[in-house]
Amino acid sequence: MTTEAMTRPIVTIVQHIREQQRAFPTATGDLSWILSGIALATRIIQSYVRCAGIVDVLGSLGKENVQGELVQKLDIVANETILRCLAYRDIVGIMVSEEDDEPTIVKSPAEPGKYTVLFDPLDGSSNIDVNVSIGTIFSVLRYRDDVPESEGALPHCLQPGVQQVAAGYVVYGSSTVLAYTTGNGVHMFTLDPSIGAYVLHTDGVRMPDTGKMYSVNEAYLDSFPQGVRDYLAWAKTEESGGYGLRYIGSLVSDFHRTLLKGGVFLYPPTAKNPGGKLRLLYEANPLGFIAEQAGGAAMDFKGRVLERQPDSLHARTPLLIGSKSEVDRVMEFMR
Ligand code: AHG
Ligand code: MN
Ligand code: MN
Repeated sequence: MTTEAMTRPIVTIVQHIREQQRAFPTATGDLSWILSGIALATRIIQSYVRCAGIVDVLGSLGKENVQGELVQKLDIVANETILRCLAYRDIVGIMVSEEDDEPTIVKSPAEPGKYTVLFDPLDGSSNIDVNVSIGTIFSVLRYRDDVPESEGALPHCLQPGVQQVAAGYVVYGSSTVLAYTTGNGVHMFTLDPSIGAYVLHTDGVRMPDTGKMYSVNEAYLDSFPQGVRDYLAWAKTEESGGYGLRYIGSLVSDFHRTLLKGGVFLYPPTAKNPGGKLRLLYEANPLGFIAEQAGGAAMDFKGRVLERQPDSLHARTPLLIGSKSEVDRVMEFMR
């Protein structure tokens, strides 16, 4: 270890969240409780991921989820772990998971000041069985105080991404990394497995403004919009200065690399998924919030993702996310 690393203060995620809240004297501590619940859940999930081959969580359950996708055993383990870690305190009123048809109501929407937590418990399912990085993504919304109780849970869940009060993700990679924002920059932690705690390593992560790397499933090229095809053709020319391609197939991992190294991730409309494949509430909004807080951008190839009004729990969206200048360049090709 370098001297700098040896002398840097050691700050855990719980300490960090509390410190952040001190800047807001009216803060109740609710958000820090939710974030530490998520930190606990993801530590449990990572322990399953780390011994996936020996504790019977590999493989599929042979059934499909509400989105028509094959459910993996680890999807369910992760889903239940998050529900169990957050349902205990009544400040979380509603939980919505990519894996469930309906929101889980923990507390009646009649109670004011409650939160909705939305999550993709296990992102990158197709990579579980092959030991490639996967992750968890989460988003936190406050209850709307302008809707009557009779309207039920849905209006509290179907809010545009600009209303998020916190969001983040965890990557179960060669190490376990957690990033979160509450609208005051992006903070990144690494799990120290020897002590079981997430330790701060970057306060105020900035996404590089440019990066010569694009990330897209180019197998669908023929059905991409013309602007995206033109951009990808340009990126291969000498004039562009030469771009590289990286595509893991776990959004959370592709995003994490883009956040740290710069570049752009694209999941455009395709013939198979004309409205895009990625989920607005569990994937695009939380990562969009993180991207913007780190100085990057997130678009749906038309406008800002965070301004999209979700029309259903499992709404999908095209997604263009990454370094600000690279996103702008793709948008120029779209025009
Ligand atoms: P999930 O495993 O949560 O269903 O998400 C899978 C998503 C996302 O992680 C990834 O970017 C994308 O699917 C990959 O899709 P393609 O296989 O079509 O490239
Ligand atoms: Mn996902
Ligand atoms: Mn998932």
